[in-house]
Amino acid sequence: MSDAKQFDVVVIGAGPGGYIAAIRAAQLGFKVACIDEWANAKGGPAPGGTCTNVGCIPSKALLQSSEHYEHAGHAFAEHGIDFAGLSLNLPQMLKRKETVVKQNNDGILFLFKKNKITFFHGRGAFTGAAEGGYQISVTGANADTLSAKHVVIATGSNARELPGAPFDEKLILSNSGALTISSVPSTLGVIGAGVIGLEMGSVWRRLGAKVTVLEGLPTFLGAVDEQIAKEAHKLFTKQGLEINLGVKISKVTAGENSVTVDYANAAGEAQSAVFDKLIISIGRVPNTIGLGADAVGLKLDERGFIAVDDDCKTNLPNVWAVGDVVRGPMLAHKAEEEGVAVAERIAGQHGHTNFNTIPWVIYTSPEIAWVGQNEQQLKAAGVAYKAGTFPFMANGRARALGDTSGMVKFLADATTDEILGVHIVGPMASELISEAVVAMEFRASAEDIARICHAHPSLSEATKEAALAVDKRSLNF
Ligand code: FAD
Ligand code: NAI
Repeated sequence: MSDAKQFDVVVIGAGPGGYIAAIRAAQLGFKVACIDEWANAKGGPAPGGTCTNVGCIPSKALLQSSEHYEHAGHAFAEHGIDFAGLSLNLPQMLKRKETVVKQNNDGILFLFKKNKITFFHGRGAFTGAAEGGYQISVTGANADTLSAKHVVIATGSNARELPGAPFDEKLILSNSGALTISSVPSTLGVIGAGVIGLEMGSVWRRLGAKVTVLEGLPTFLGAVDEQIAKEAHKLFTKQGLEINLGVKISKVTAGENSVTVDYANAAGEAQSAVFDKLIISIGRVPNTIGLGADAVGLKLDERGFIAVDDDCKTNLPNVWAVGDVVRGPMLAHKAEEEGVAVAERIAGQHGHTNFNTIPWVIYTSPEIAWVGQNEQQLKAAGVAYKAGTFPFMANGRARALGDTSGMVKFLADATTDEILGVHIVGPMASELISEAVVAMEFRASAEDIARICHAHPSLSEATKEAALAVDKRSLNF
C-alpha cells in the first residue's frame, strides 16, 4: 500500500464543472477530493474557475454596474429622476466586482466543507497507475500524492491568442485584462464580435469608451437566429458600438501606450486603426497543460480537447472529463450538467445531459437568449415549421420599464406544433428563456404555452403572445 491519500473520486479543476461534480459525488456517498490551482491576489485559493474569477461572475457584475451608470446618465431622466454631478468611480466599481468574486470563491470553499470534500490548492497531474485506479500528484500550496478510483477532469479553457499578438494584459487584453482596465480608455478595439466581445465591448462603451469591433466573419452572430441577430445588430449600432464585419486582421502592433491594428475591411481595402486598448476575444482553447495526459495515455482529439463519448467517458477506464475541456458549448451551466451526470454515472445511476435544451444568453442590453434550433437550421434541415413573433413594444410591462426593444420568437413544428426553438432579444431575456427551456424539456407545443395563464403585467406575457402568434392569434398585436 502506498502513502498516497486514497479517494473514491478525485476531481481536477474547481470551475462550475468540477466543483459541482465534486458536490454531487459527495452527496452520493463517495470520498471526494477536488484540486484547483487558481490563486487570488494574495496567493490563496480561489475556486470557481474561469466562470467565478474572470468570466461569468465578474463580467455580469461589471455589466450591471455599467448599466446602472448608463441609466443614471440617460434613461432615468425620462422617469423624472434627475442627477446633478453624475460621475464614475471606476476603482469602486472594480472593487465591488472583486467583492462579488470573493463571495463566490468563499461560497465554494464553504460548500466543500459542508459536503466533506477535501480541497487541495495546487496543480493536479496524473503520474501513473495506482492500486485500483490512478495516482495524482498535487504541486503547489497543498502538495501531496493522491490515489483515486475515479478521476473527473474539469480543467476548463483559456483565451485563444491571435498569432503575432500575444496577450500582455496591459494593451492587448484577454478576458482577464478586459475585466481589470483601471481607467476608461478613450478608444477600445475588440477583435471578435462573439459573446465576450459584445459583453465587454458593452461594458466599456457604457462607461465612455469609443468601441470598435472587428469581426472576421461576414455575418453578425452567425449562431443566432438571423432575425434576432439583425435586430440586435441594429440596436447595438444605435447604442454606438461600431461593428465591422468581414475584416481580415493582418498585423497587431503594441506601442508604448496604444495598439495599432492593420486589417483589410470587407471590401478588401487596407485599414489601420489605433486604440488605447485592444481586447482579443476570438474563442477559447481547452486547458490540458501540465495534466500529465501522456503519463497515463489519455487521448485528446485533433483540436486538443479531451476526447469523450456522449457520457463524458474518456479512453481510460474510470476517467471522465466535463465542461470546457471537452466538446460542446463552452457554458458554465453545460459544465455543471455534465458534472452532475458524471457523478451519477460513477454511482451507477443514469445521469443525463440534454444537449438540445441548453440555453444560451448574451448579457448585452438588450439581452439575447435562445434555446433549440433557429430558422436557418430548420430551413437547412428541410423541417416544415411555423414561426410566431411578438415585439416588446406591445408589452405593457416593457413600456412601464422603459425598455421596449426587441421581440420573442417561437418556432414550432408545422404538423405537431412541438416547440423547436425560442429566440429572444429584449429585456430580461436571460430569465424569460427558462420558460422555453422547461417547455422544450417537456416537449410542449406552442399551443401549450399559449393556453397557460401568465401574470399581468409581466414580460413573460410576450412569451405567451409569441406562442399565440405561431397560429396567428396573438391578442395584443
Ligand atoms: P473552468 O471554469 O475554466 O475551470 C477550470 C479550473 O480548473 C480553473 O480553476 C483552472 O485553474 C483549474 N485547472 C486547470 N488545470 C488544472 C490542473 N492541472 N490542476 C488544478 N487545477 C487546474 N458561461 C456561461 O454559462 N454564462 C456566462 O455568463 C459566461 N460568461 C463568461 C464570460 C467570460 C468573460 C468568459 C471568459 C467565459 C464566460 N462563460 C460564461 C463561460 C464559462 O466561464 C465556462 O464555460 C465555464 O467556466 C467552464 O467551466 P469548467 O468547469 O469547464 O472550467
Ligand atoms: P466566440 O466564439 O463567442 O466569438 C469569437 C468571435 O471571434 C467569432 O465571431 C469569430 O468569428 C471571431 N473571430 C475568430 N477569429 C477571428 C479573427 N482572426 N479575426 C476576427 N474575428 C475572429 O468566442 P469568445 O467571445 O472569445 O467567447 C468564448 C466563449 O466563452 C463563448 O463561445 C462562450 O462559450 C463563452 N462565453 C459565454 C458567455 C455567456 O454565456 N454569456 C459570455 C462570454 C463567454
